[in-house]
Amino acid sequence: MNNMKTVTLIKGDGIGPEIADAVMRIIEASGLELNWDIQSAGADSIKEDGTPLPPRVLESIKVNKVALKAPITTPIGMGFRSANVQLRKALDLYANVRPCKNLPNIKTKFDDVDLVVIRENTEDLYAGLEHKIDENTAESIKIITRKASERIARFAFEYAVEHKRKEVCCVTKANICKLSDGLFLDCFREVAQEFPKIKTKELLVDNLCMQLVQNPQVFDVLVMPNLYGDIVSDLTAGLIGGLGVAQGANIGKYGAVFEPVHGSAPDIKGKNKANPMALLLSAIDMLRYIDEGKYADKIEKALYKTLEEEAFTEDLGGKLKTTEFRDAVIMNMNE
Ligand code: NAI
Repeated sequence: MNNMKTVTLIKGDGIGPEIADAVMRIIEASGLELNWDIQSAGADSIKEDGTPLPPRVLESIKVNKVALKAPITTPIGMGFRSANVQLRKALDLYANVRPCKNLPNIKTKFDDVDLVVIRENTEDLYAGLEHKIDENTAESIKIITRKASERIARFAFEYAVEHKRKEVCCVTKANICKLSDGLFLDCFREVAQEFPKIKTKELLVDNLCMQLVQNPQVFDVLVMPNLYGDIVSDLTAGLIGGLGVAQGANIGKYGAVFEPVHGSAPDIKGKNKANPMALLLSAIDMLRYIDEGKYADKIEKALYKTLEEEAFTEDLGGKLKTTEFRDAVIMNMNE
C-alpha cells in the first residue's frame, strides 16, 4: 500500500516557482517521500481559468487538509479580490501564525528575539466592505465579532500551552475603536480565565510598535486583529533579517496552509536571486504539522549548519544564488 502523504503545492507567481522547486528538492533530499498535488493559482490561473483562485485549488486543499504555498501576485485594478484573502476566508483559516526568532549568524540589531505574532485572519477591515459615499468620501467597515475574537484568543492560549510559552499579550487600539477592538479585548480577557497558568498583558498597537523596535526580547506570544497583525508581523520580520527569512502558517479547524510572509517579489523574478529560506521554514513547520517531525528536524539542522557557515543569499549580504543555497542545505543534510 502507498503510505505517502499528499500535500497540495501552490508554486505561485514571481519568485514562487523558483523557491518552491528549491524547497521540494530539499525535502526530497531529506529522504521523505511526499505526494505533491501541484495546483496553479495566481496570474497564470487568471489566463487559464479566468480567476486567480479556481475552485479546484480549494477542493485540493479540502481533500488533502494541508498545503504549502509560495506567494501569489495580487493584480492591482483588475477587479480581482486578493486570492490570499479569498483562500483564507473560503477555508476558514482563522489563525495566521508568524513566528519570529533569531537565526544563526544573521546579524540583526537584537539577539534573543523569540516571539510569535498570532493574527486573526478572517475579518476586521479585510471583510472587503468598502464603498464610496460620494466622489470625495469612501467608507471601509471594520468587522469584529465575538465568535472570531474568542476563537483566536483561545488559539493563542492553546498555542502558548503547546509551545511552552509563558505570556500572551493582546494588542488593540481599544482606546479609539472602543466598540470593535473593545469587544476583541473583552473576549481575550474572558478566554484568559480558562488559562490561569499563562500570564497576560494588554497593549495598544502604537505602544507595541515602539517597544518592539526598542526591546523586542520581552515579548512572547502576541495576539491581535487582522490589520494590526499584517503590519506588526512585517515589522517583526525586520527584527530577524527581513522578509526572506520570515515564515508563516494559516491554520483552521479543518486544514492549514503554510506560506512565507513575503510576496512574489517581481523585481527579482527569474534571476535565481530569491532566498528560499522563508518558504523552507514554512515547510519545516508544515512537516511538523503532518507528523513528520523527524524530517523537519533533519532539514532544520542542515539549514542552521548552512547559516553557521555564513552561506547566505544576496538579501542577507551573501553571494549565493537560490540554487546554490539549496545545494548547500542539501550537502549539509548528507554529511
Ligand atoms: P514582496 O514581499 O514581494 O517584496 C518586497 C521586497 O522584498 C522586494 O524588494 C523583494 O525583492 C524582496 N523580497 C521578498 N521576498 C524575497 C525573498 N524570498 N528573497 C529575496 N528578496 C525578497 O512585496 P511587494 O513587492 O509589496 O509585493 C509583490 C506582490 O506580492 C504583490 O502583488 C502582492 O500583492 C503580493 N503578495 C503576496 C503575498 C502572498 O502570496 N502571501 C504576501 C505579500 C504580497
